[in-house]
Amino acid sequence: MALKLEKKRQTPAVTTYEGKAKILIPTDRPGVLRMQFKDDATAFNAQKKGQIRGKGEINCTISSYLFQYLQQQGIPTHFLAQVAPAEMEVTALEMFALEVVVRNRAAGSLCRETGLPLGMELEPPLVEFYYKNDALGDPLLTPDRLRLLQLATPDQVQALTRLAEQINTHLRRFFAECGLLLIDFKLEFGRDRAGQIVLADEISPDTCRLWLAGETDPTKRVVDKDRFRYDLGEVESAYRLVLERVLQQAPRS
Ligand code: TMP
Ligand code: ASP
Repeated sequence: MALKLEKKRQTPAVTTYEGKAKILIPTDRPGVLRMQFKDDATAFNAQKKGQIRGKGEINCTISSYLFQYLQQQGIPTHFLAQVAPAEMEVTALEMFALEVVVRNRAAGSLCRETGLPLGMELEPPLVEFYYKNDALGDPLLTPDRLRLLQLATPDQVQALTRLAEQINTHLRRFFAECGLLLIDFKLEFGRDRAGQIVLADEISPDTCRLWLAGETDPTKRVVDKDRFRYDLGEVESAYRLVLERVLQQAPRS
């Protein structure tokens, strides 16, 4: 006799997931996750490993403020609440396996791979898609490869690009008011139960390049994870500087 299977609506199975800088933990509320920020730091696809003291709390707090700021500007984000110094509650999303990088000035892999001079202004800003896949080293995608891998539909790619550009406009203005230049940054997005595209992950000195405005010394001006990547020293104080400037700029609503 054929086994009769009862067709049930399945809620996606959610288990604890530990990444390089954060841990996602299910809660007893459906669709709500706890996101714990770690002090662990990695670079160059985890070939370099270390710790930045206080980073979990700093990045969680900066991200919480920036997500709230973006929400006030009409950008949907996964942020629900900061529930502890290094922990926030977020909406569970079906994530795109993509890293969306926005570049206002040439730095990092763009300089390495194209020879463009460090700090060259990019107008209009560049929006790039990378395949979020550690085993493959998160390669840069061409539009054709994006389509081939079916990582997002053409409409979704268009919507992601537009959102990334809008987020860049808001963040650039915000950081400029903090006396910081937003050189480039990485975003991750997912879809909520209604299918809406929502900003996820974090926005912090781990995921943004930030330079002190007006500082021309190429090592002194860096206040982001490049201090860790390239052994520039004073990593924790750079993260704290960004936190202090963000807090001054964005009183909690
Ligand atoms: P890139 O110049 O190394 O491609 O990095 C561009 C931006 O993306 C920079 O602000 C750092 C950020 N980023 C991440 O957040 N995670 C990563 O794994 C990488 C490679 C870059
Ligand atoms: N977070 C990335 C890694 O360790 C790379 C980076 O941020 O430079 O894989």
